[in-house]
Amino acid sequence: MSDKPLLQIRDLQIGFDTPSGLLLAVRGIDLNINEGEITALVGESGCGKSLTAMSLLNLVEAPGRITAGQILFKNEDILKMGDERLNKMRGAEASIIFQEPMTALNPVFSVGTQIGEVFITHGNYSKKEAREKAIKLLAHVGIPEPQRRVDSYPFELSGGMRQRAMIAMALAMSPSLLIADEPTTALDVTIQSQILHLIKNLSHSNQMAVLLITHDIGIVSLVADKIAIMYAGLIMEFGETRKVLSKPKHPYTKGLLNSLPSVYVQQKNKKRLEPIPGKVPELREIPEGCVFSNRCTSYDKSCDTDIPVKSSGKHYYRCVK
Ligand SMILES: Nc1ncnc2c1ncn2[C@@H]1O[C@H](COP(=O)(O)OP(=O)(O)OP(=O)(O)O)[C@@H](O)[C@H]1O
Ligand SMILES: [Mg+2]
Repeated sequence: MSDKPLLQIRDLQIGFDTPSGLLLAVRGIDLNINEGEITALVGESGCGKSLTAMSLLNLVEAPGRITAGQILFKNEDILKMGDERLNKMRGAEASIIFQEPMTALNPVFSVGTQIGEVFITHGNYSKKEAREKAIKLLAHVGIPEPQRRVDSYPFELSGGMRQRAMIAMALAMSPSLLIADEPTTALDVTIQSQILHLIKNLSHSNQMAVLLITHDIGIVSLVADKIAIMYAGLIMEFGETRKVLSKPKHPYTKGLLNSLPSVYVQQKNKKRLEPIPGKVPELREIPEGCVFSNRCTSYDKSCDTDIPVKSSGKHYYRCVK
């Protein structure tokens, strides 16, 4: 881990063109991710986490589009890269993995062929070398009998094995950034834990930064160095995981911590989970001023104006209180 920023997101906005005009789903995000650091991105469904993740490799699909901002990766703006540069970068310097590995793995090729392809495309390896490297990588991500599994097709593998194969593919070129969008939600708890530890170990051994999207606060406390809490297209709070979880500043963060179940943290000694009253607003119904104001128990008139980001050391939050 270092304090050197690898990724700098500046005033990122992502919207959808609709017959009644542009609707913003990501409303001005600023976030730095340092080299080798694991940052968790947490927030209720629909708050813009996946859109943000996709934008980091300029993968937002129509009708969505990035309407403003900069995404500096090693000081180069991803949003200004040409296609050739982007294709070189994707999968080699920065990779993304999703919840459902079948969206990333092609059903008609063996996993060995698909992982090998990354080495051939980005690394100029021969077919034979690529296969050898694929076997090593499969072993590295904990796939038993990699010599045999290298020739398996995705449908021949269990969910956990497919997820590992996808991680292997994402990690083939030792990227300096891994974006993981709920990579383990569909898996059972033991496999989740193994895969998260794998990601954490690889992050430490390869100095790989990770943006980990998850709903599970237990996962966050186990693996993430920093946490960003997102709501209605904005980062409401950001800081070191330990600090944010032990002393949350924003009422939304407090509500979220009381409402999220975890498959990891034993709930025995915890208070009963309490959902945050109300629901995430539709994009066209997001309040002026503080976007959380209509659900916040600390609401008063001062919340109706634009809320600047406050800080206490390196702990940032967007609340007037
Ligand atoms: N094609 C689309 N057209 C219009 N709105 C969309 C479209 N795709 C996503 N959105 C909206 O953009 C917002 C952000 O979606 P996003 O998928 O980033 O949320 P998320 O935080 O990843 O949610 P989840 O936790 O459920 O995965 C949501 O309000 C969603 O309704
Ligand atoms: Mg999502």
